[in-house]
Amino acid sequence: MIPNVDNDSIVYLNGDYVRLGDAKISVLDRGFIFGDGIYDVVPAYNGKPFRMDGHLARLERSLASIGIKVDMTRADWEALVHDLLKRSGLGDCMVYIQVTRGVAKRDHAFPANTTPTIFCMVSPFVRPGAAAREQGYSAVSIPDVRWLRCEIKSVSLLGNVLAKQAAVEAGVDEVLQFRDGYLTEGSSCNIWMVKNGVLLAPPRNNLILEGIRYGLLEELTAAGNITFEIRPISQQEVDEADELMLSSATKELLPITTYNGKPVGSGKPGAVYASLRAAYDDAIAAL
Ligand code: PDD
Repeated sequence: MIPNVDNDSIVYLNGDYVRLGDAKISVLDRGFIFGDGIYDVVPAYNGKPFRMDGHLARLERSLASIGIKVDMTRADWEALVHDLLKRSGLGDCMVYIQVTRGVAKRDHAFPANTTPTIFCMVSPFVRPGAAAREQGYSAVSIPDVRWLRCEIKSVSLLGNVLAKQAAVEAGVDEVLQFRDGYLTEGSSCNIWMVKNGVLLAPPRNNLILEGIRYGLLEELTAAGNITFEIRPISQQEVDEADELMLSSATKELLPITTYNGKPVGSGKPGAVYASLRAAYDDAIAAL
């Protein structure tokens, strides 16, 4: 019995549909031994996946970047996501997909002829409620001590786990990570800043995991006539931000209203957030 999950929910493991409580992998799976694998998280509303193309394209990029070849076409992935969503019967939920290099004798180099392990599950998710949307999150800054391939959605998440734990221990909701004095991202989300009405985001490079919301916010800012600029953002600029916000598949878009113990701008969610938030809700409603 795994606590706090629906042990009876049906998951996909290497071609089979099994109860979550019964799903098992080998102790020699390279995901377990080395963190040698990748994952993605596709949100779904009312049982319908949101921006699935972007998530599956990123899954394929992650696989290619670490040289894992799977016997799955894009259409196979789509069918799997739809199938699991249907079996789950859930409305608002997230589809978690993980692929590891498979099971082999412990040896760092890629093993020959190993079949990748493919795992997929659907879990319910509670959309961020009124309190988070209206009061906003609190955050503190920490140094980004992770590796230099953050663009890969790797299951080796120790750096991100320690970053999130730093938030918990500081009594705040999230961290903003900085490398060499420049903003990278949160523990498991991207960070956005507003100055003089312009929405700013750190560059899409190896220092961050480019969220699927990068493309979405690019579209929403264009539609809403909000200037959007992607460029390095210094720690000092963040200290002087008019607005800060975060985004991820599961947090959607939320304002950060307290940063390093001080109010951000007015201390209330700002006008750019409000406009993008409304447009985000419209995009979900249009599914
Ligand atoms: N995390 N940066 C990091 C390090 C992340 O882990 C995530 C997502 C993002 C935002 O990506 P997207 O907008 O595509 O969700 C940015 C997921 C939700 C997770 O690990 O559960």
